[in-house]
Amino acid sequence: MALDTPTIAQTAPAGAPPELVSWVAGVAELTLPDAVHWCDGSVEERDRLYDQMVASGTFIRLNPDLRPGSYLARSAPSDVARVEGRTFICSVDEADAGPTNNWAEPQAMKRTLAGLFAGSMRGRTMYVIPFSMGPLGGELTRLGVEITDSPYVVVNMRLTTRIGAPALAAIASGAPWVPAVHSTGYPLVDEAGVTRPDVPWPCNDTKYITHFPETREIWSYGSGYGGNALLGKKSFALRIASVLARDEGWLAEHMLILRITGPDGRVFHLTAAFPSACGKTNLAMLRPTIPGWTVETVGDDIAWMRPGPDGRLYAINPENGFFGVAPGTSEQTNPTCLHAISHDTIFTNVALTDDGDVWWEGLTPEPPAHLIDWQGNDWTPGSGRPASHPNGRFTVHASQAESISPDWEDPAGVPIDVILFGGRRATNVPLISESYDWQHGVFVGATVSSEQTAAAEGLVGALRRDPFAMLPFCGYNMADYWAHWLRMGASLGEGAPRIFQVNWFRKDEDGHWLWPGFGENARAIEWALRRVAGEVDAVDALSGRIPVPGDLNLEGLDLSEHDLAALFALDPQAWAAEADLTEEYFAQFGDRLPAQLTDQLAALRARIAGAG
Ligand code: GTP
Ligand code: SPV
Ligand code: MN
Repeated sequence: MALDTPTIAQTAPAGAPPELVSWVAGVAELTLPDAVHWCDGSVEERDRLYDQMVASGTFIRLNPDLRPGSYLARSAPSDVARVEGRTFICSVDEADAGPTNNWAEPQAMKRTLAGLFAGSMRGRTMYVIPFSMGPLGGELTRLGVEITDSPYVVVNMRLTTRIGAPALAAIASGAPWVPAVHSTGYPLVDEAGVTRPDVPWPCNDTKYITHFPETREIWSYGSGYGGNALLGKKSFALRIASVLARDEGWLAEHMLILRITGPDGRVFHLTAAFPSACGKTNLAMLRPTIPGWTVETVGDDIAWMRPGPDGRLYAINPENGFFGVAPGTSEQTNPTCLHAISHDTIFTNVALTDDGDVWWEGLTPEPPAHLIDWQGNDWTPGSGRPASHPNGRFTVHASQAESISPDWEDPAGVPIDVILFGGRRATNVPLISESYDWQHGVFVGATVSSEQTAAAEGLVGALRRDPFAMLPFCGYNMADYWAHWLRMGASLGEGAPRIFQVNWFRKDEDGHWLWPGFGENARAIEWALRRVAGEVDAVDALSGRIPVPGDLNLEGLDLSEHDLAALFALDPQAWAAEADLTEEYFAQFGDRLPAQLTDQLAALRARIAGAG
């Protein structure tokens, strides 16, 4: 029997506003769950869900002596990453989604979704999660409500966003909120009333991750994984928020945020846009190898930024936790992160050790002699396949990172001095270069290419354009987004952050990394900050301004002259080829491409001609 509005109203917490209750009732009428649970975000609620998921087989409780309060989930092998091919921007006008997004006509998509969601929660509990992106009460803070039939989503949203009573109270007091509906698409009862048993990771081969930028709604069907299902993150905080930001004069970006303090006590803040699984979490928790510098973490994935009263750009982290890549995380690469996930952490798609702990590639130099792999099968070092999925992840509250800044929840945000753009580039892009000005910086951001990682389905390693690391996340026409960045720079004027491009991933002819990376990345950042402080000159080069030889602090680093030269090598021919590809890439945006970017391409070509 369907749960009708009066029944739903009875389940609602005191103070739930009528329009919220009627929206929930409408979704229940469509999806036909057995029960409705309004999440309060409490520890008791969390523990009930953990116990329930251990009983159902979705969660494995890890050994409490080794990994207290922690759990392992294994997804269906078909549901391991974001599905960009199934992600849609449903604007009224196709041109508003732009050539880099999948577009669908909103009414047609609503009809498709109505068919898919009809009865999709039969036999299940429907969870209602009021949540806040950003600290409650902040000017940049925005609210949402996710409905989901996945308890896994509830406990992950509890770590990555601020869920429960305070968010509901803010909604009740009249603040606008974004509705987000999620179903794994695995009902336990069919139309005829026939039941089937649940599975540890319900999902559906049909997947739709859909966004309606004009009406500010999100509907996600068929996947339980990460950004497909935790709708506060990519769907809201990037795709919908980028549209809000365009309309309201701010920026919603795929960027980490950190504070770095120099030996003289001077404090800087930096954001960095790197594509998925290209080192944001690592950089956000950087332990500088050069003496006197310390880093505090503000955010590891998303930055919301707006001009402050003093004309500078201020950033908040709208999230509450980290959903980070596990493989490669070790005492050597990211000790801060490793300590953060030593307890009260949810792991997904990593390997299980015989003593009930987790393991992934790169955690230890030698793998254990026996593991249960991410698919639940026996594994030995000779198995010839990775024990954990390359997009295996941990979910942890941000406060568990010892590097977390005391100001990470300041609703006013932190003032940004430097913006970095980066990606995985085996060739061409130097270790660091500074943009000539804001317009050039926007051109650099717009032309970022990167080798694809396992964070999304697709060909890992293939070089693709990922402008501003926002290719999968921009909720509107990418050319309009660049125009918005140009406008923001013009209005910030002198207060605008300085823009740099970095590349930790350059390789030599034999395919070895030229740069040691991780903690050593502080050396490149130190140079950027010394530029900002006006302490060092720079050399005008093709890609931007690069360090005067000797200015990059290499003390204590074993880097050959040859490798150093290779890290900054700029081949005019290769750059001419890049410029040709950029012209082709830009052409698809037609007359929506800002003229300033065409001018920047011409300026790059002039520099290439001058260097050739
Ligand atoms: P999303 O959460 O997907 O948005 O990604 P992220 O940018 O936060 O990615 P993350 O920091 O988890 O990237 C992890 C991958 O980048 C791992 O494979 C790391 O080993 C690698 N990585 C991070 N920093 C460096 C570096 O300085 N050098 C090299 N060579 N690899 C790095
Ligand atoms: C990314 O892919 O950029 C992520 C992970 O941060 S997910 O939340 O799955 O999108
Ligand atoms: Mn990300």
